[in-house]
Amino acid sequence: MLVLIVGITGNVGTKLISPLQEHGAQVRGLARNKSKLAPEKLQALESFHDMEAWYDVPAIKKALNGVDAVICAYGPVPELVLDAQLLLRFVPSAWNLDWSALSFGAIVYYDLFLAFQRQLAMSSRIKPFYIFIGIFAETFFSLPGHGVFNPSTHGVWDSASGSPRAEFWGTGDEKWQITTEQDTADFTAALICDQSRTDGMYRYCSWEYSIKEIAAIYELEKGIPVEMKRLGSLEDLRVVADFCQQELGLSRFWEWMGYTYQIHQLGGKTMMQVLDDKLYPDLKRAELGDFLKQHPEI
Ligand SMILES: NC(=O)c1ccc[n+]([C@@H]2O[C@H](COP(=O)([O-])OP(=O)(O)OC[C@H]3O[C@@H](n4cnc5c(N)ncnc54)[C@H](OP(=O)(O)O)[C@@H]3O)[C@@H](O)[C@H]2O)c1
Repeated sequence: MLVLIVGITGNVGTKLISPLQEHGAQVRGLARNKSKLAPEKLQALESFHDMEAWYDVPAIKKALNGVDAVICAYGPVPELVLDAQLLLRFVPSAWNLDWSALSFGAIVYYDLFLAFQRQLAMSSRIKPFYIFIGIFAETFFSLPGHGVFNPSTHGVWDSASGSPRAEFWGTGDEKWQITTEQDTADFTAALICDQSRTDGMYRYCSWEYSIKEIAAIYELEKGIPVEMKRLGSLEDLRVVADFCQQELGLSRFWEWMGYTYQIHQLGGKTMMQVLDDKLYPDLKRAELGDFLKQHPEI
C-alpha cells in the first residue's frame, strides 16, 4: 500500500511516517520544505515531492500518481482546511474535537470542516475517514510550535509564568479529552492500513480528565503545587465569549476562539461519546504522568 502524506513536514505529518511503515505501507511525502525532515526520515520515504504552496496543482497531480490513500496533515489555517483540502479531495486533516454534532457558528473554525464535509458529500465519490481526538496534549499544554492554548488565548494551562497555573470555567470537574500527537499518528496509521475498515467517523483519545484531575496527576508526578483559578460558571463563559466575538469579529477569531472551544467541550457538545479505542488493542497509549515526565518545560 502506498500512502501519500500531504504536509509531511508538520507535527503530525512527521509522526505518521514510522507507524505507517510498521504496518507495511510505503510512504510518499508532499510539502514545501524538504529540509524540515530529518535525513533518516527523508531516506525512509518511497519519494518526496516538492510543492510551492497548497495551490501547486501540477505537484499535487504528480504526487497522487499511483497512491492508494492520502492523509492530509496540513496545519490549522483556514485556507488550508477548506480551499486546499477541496483541491486535494481525499482523507482530511480532522484531528479535532468532535464537531459532528455542531451547527454552523458554534465554533467558527470548525465551520470550515463542516463546509468541507458537505461539499465532499455532494460533489465527490471519495469517502473520507474523519478522525476525532479531542485536543492534542502538545496544544493543551502549549508546547512551543504546537499551538497556544494558555490563558493568553483563553485556554487553561499556564507553565510559562514560572510556576504551573490553571485558569478554568465551570466546576473544574468537567472532562477534557486529550490525545498526544504520536497516539493520533499511531491510530491514524493503523486505521488507514486496515483494509477491513470503511470510511466514516472514528474517535480516539489518550486521556479523559478534568482539570482538577490533571492538576492532581501533575502534583503527584512533579511534586509541585498547581495554582487553580476559577474564572466563573459556564454561563459566565458564554456571556464573555459572545461579547468578545461581537467586539473583535471573525477576522480576529484566533483571539477569542479559545472561549468557544471551552464552552462546547466543557458543556459536552464536542465530547466523543463512544470511542474506537478497542479497535487496535496492540496500540500502546501514552500515560499523562509519562507525558509530563518527558516534558520538563510543562
Ligand atoms: N485537536 C487539536 O488540539 C489540534 C491542534 C493542532 C492541530 N490539529 C489538527 O492537526 C492538523 C495538523 O496540525 P499540525 O500541528 O501537524 O500542523 P503543522 O505542524 O502546522 O503542519 C503544517 C504542515 O502544513 C504545511 N503548510 C503550511 N502552510 C502551507 C501552505 N500555505 N501551503 C502548503 N503547505 C503548507 C507545512 O509545510 P511546510 O513545511 O512547507 O511549512 C507542514 O507540512 C491540523 O490541520 C488540525 O486539523 C488539532
